[in-house]
Amino acid sequence: MDNPASGKIGIFDSGYGGLTILDSIRALLPKYDYIYLGDNARSPYGTRSFEVVYDFTLQGVKKLYSMGCKLTILACNTASAKALRSIQQNDLQNMGPQAKVLGVIRPTTEIIGRYTVSRHVGLFGTVGTVQSRSYDLEIAKFFPDIQLSSVACPLWVPLIENGEAGSPGADYFVKKYCDELLSKDSGIDCVILACTHYPLLENKIRKYLPEHIRILSQGPVVAAALQNYLVRHKQIEESIGKNGTCRFYTTEQVPKFNDSASIFLKEPVEAIHIRL
Ligand code: DGL
Repeated sequence: MDNPASGKIGIFDSGYGGLTILDSIRALLPKYDYIYLGDNARSPYGTRSFEVVYDFTLQGVKKLYSMGCKLTILACNTASAKALRSIQQNDLQNMGPQAKVLGVIRPTTEIIGRYTVSRHVGLFGTVGTVQSRSYDLEIAKFFPDIQLSSVACPLWVPLIENGEAGSPGADYFVKKYCDELLSKDSGIDCVILACTHYPLLENKIRKYLPEHIRILSQGPVVAAALQNYLVRHKQIEESIGKNGTCRFYTTEQVPKFNDSASIFLKEPVEAIHIRL
């Protein structure tokens, strides 16, 4: 009898943001087995140095690999910008022949040309993502005619991680960064939410941007890219279990994670505490 595949797809983020990616991935690819790992205890990553983001992300990737993840998605732009390449080049070969890690920046920059007519695109991201200039460099490769204007929003992730995304106080900081972006370039017709936490503020962001501006959340984009990757990498696809399960791990308090994640995913979540 064939051995049923037992591998998992790992989804890693500094905290709750990766849930926006997980949600879209599971909607498109419900049959696979997933493990979500949120490093809530050390979130936010967005203002941390290159070395620290790399160390924390590598710890997360190693932990997910040790739990059976054949493929891990860094569902975090900051980690994708600051750690992905080093992990792919220096660390994966020491972990095992099947260890694979993908990020969220490449899938977004590959398709951004479809979302803009004016060719003026805006971006909201963490300080780390904006300073890394990863989006500028990647977009220039695929769509050299696009002009990108970026605004770092250091207060958005702390608002979300502390359960304040829906509060009236959050409006002040959402409007502040929206105004900043519009003052940089009034010609933009598309804005990338280049932090996986930001879809949790999307209703408020919508309020403070002109209606004609499209808001691009990465969930569906990353889900489609993963589907495509699995079609092209049969061996990995075959190694992943297909029981439709999802386990959740957090480095912070479990009850708080369960409450926030259950509200967002609209299903009961029972996470397990983990140390990295
Ligand atoms: N959600 C992450 C991102 O996409 C990280 C945010 C943070 O921890 O600052 O950048």
